[in-house]
Amino acid sequence: MLPTTTRVVTLLRRPDSSGPSPEDFALEERPIPELRAGQLLLRNIVMSVDPAMRGRLETSEKHYTTNFEVGEPLDGSAIGVVLPAGSGELAPGTVVRHRMGWREHAVVDAATVSVVDTDAAPAGAWLGILGQTGFTAYVGLKRVAEMRAGDTVFISAAAGAVGSAAGRFATLLGASRVVGSAGGAAKVRMLVDQLGYDTAFDYRAEAPGVGLSRVAPDGIDVYFDNVGGPQLVAALEAMHVGGRIALCGMISQYDESGRGQDINRLLEAILRRVTIRGFIVRDHEDMRSDFEHTVADWLRSGQVTALQTVTDGIDNAVDAFLGMLKGNNIGKALVRLDTTWVV
Ligand SMILES: NC(=O)c1ccc[n+]([C@@H]2O[C@H](COP(=O)([O-])OP(=O)(O)OC[C@H]3O[C@@H](n4cnc5c(N)ncnc54)[C@H](OP(=O)(O)O)[C@@H]3O)[C@@H](O)[C@H]2O)c1
Repeated sequence: MLPTTTRVVTLLRRPDSSGPSPEDFALEERPIPELRAGQLLLRNIVMSVDPAMRGRLETSEKHYTTNFEVGEPLDGSAIGVVLPAGSGELAPGTVVRHRMGWREHAVVDAATVSVVDTDAAPAGAWLGILGQTGFTAYVGLKRVAEMRAGDTVFISAAAGAVGSAAGRFATLLGASRVVGSAGGAAKVRMLVDQLGYDTAFDYRAEAPGVGLSRVAPDGIDVYFDNVGGPQLVAALEAMHVGGRIALCGMISQYDESGRGQDINRLLEAILRRVTIRGFIVRDHEDMRSDFEHTVADWLRSGQVTALQTVTDGIDNAVDAFLGMLKGNNIGKALVRLDTTWVV
């Protein structure tokens, strides 16, 4: 029997200036819309938990897609399995990546999904290391920062989804030294002992400028910026002449309390002839097949792994999101919606 209702996470109200809290969200049972021509009914297996959702909760444009609406379901990347309903564009059992996460069942236009091969890699990897996360790390290093063999590369939020991928990729692309930062001593130890970083510092325990100059006393060539704020200033001040900064994310600036005046330090960019380039990964689709081939090979050979923090159940999805914003995740933050699947 096909389901007629589904549980969805909705936005109950917009967060106040102290940032999002569990009370801003609701878990509701909603009817599944009737399928139109060309649509598929999916059971979601696993979904992505992304910092970009933070900006979408507000009314301002601090993200690269649409704002969430109060009273309406959230959405985001997910992997789902096709159920036997609709016009049969894809065979039941086909596993697809799509944009209608934050619900257990989803109706999607068949034209908007991409089929993924869960024999080649588990479902979660298609959201993480082989999905938008890995792709962001790859594009940011190779195209945006124009990383070259021999570069010293600094990566912030280094134990997170994009950061941990960027750390591995930088080593495999020939960096001479890969430097990471993360919050907390345990994460910093993990960066060096398990995640392949050459050295690392705890941005909460010491000022980023002090930490970075201690672990990279000879300076850096590339900064892969996931956080903005004081770490961006520290990176600017550590740059070699002709250095390059890929602005990927600004998570330290997403809450009111984090916003500062750090842009004043841009004089350093002039003095050091630094290239600073912001990017949005979806503008670089031409690199997708190069990325998938390269990283699938690295995954097969064991040179990279699909590092992830998996939370089970839609009931715990909001906690997973709020926890990720606080740094509770190592690697890609995922919510598994169907526990019969290995992700
Ligand atoms: N430009 C693009 O196209 C694109 C695409 C994907 C993602 N992004 C951006 O890339 C960044 C990383 O995304 P992700 O999915 O990989 O998330 P993630 O790094 O897995 O999770 C976010 C991490 O940010 C760190 N963090 C939280 N507050 C912080 C603060 N005030 N200062 C410094 N670090 C803080 C936490 O780690 P700690 O424990 O180390 O604090 C947390 O684990 C985000 O800024 C995201 O918006 C951009």
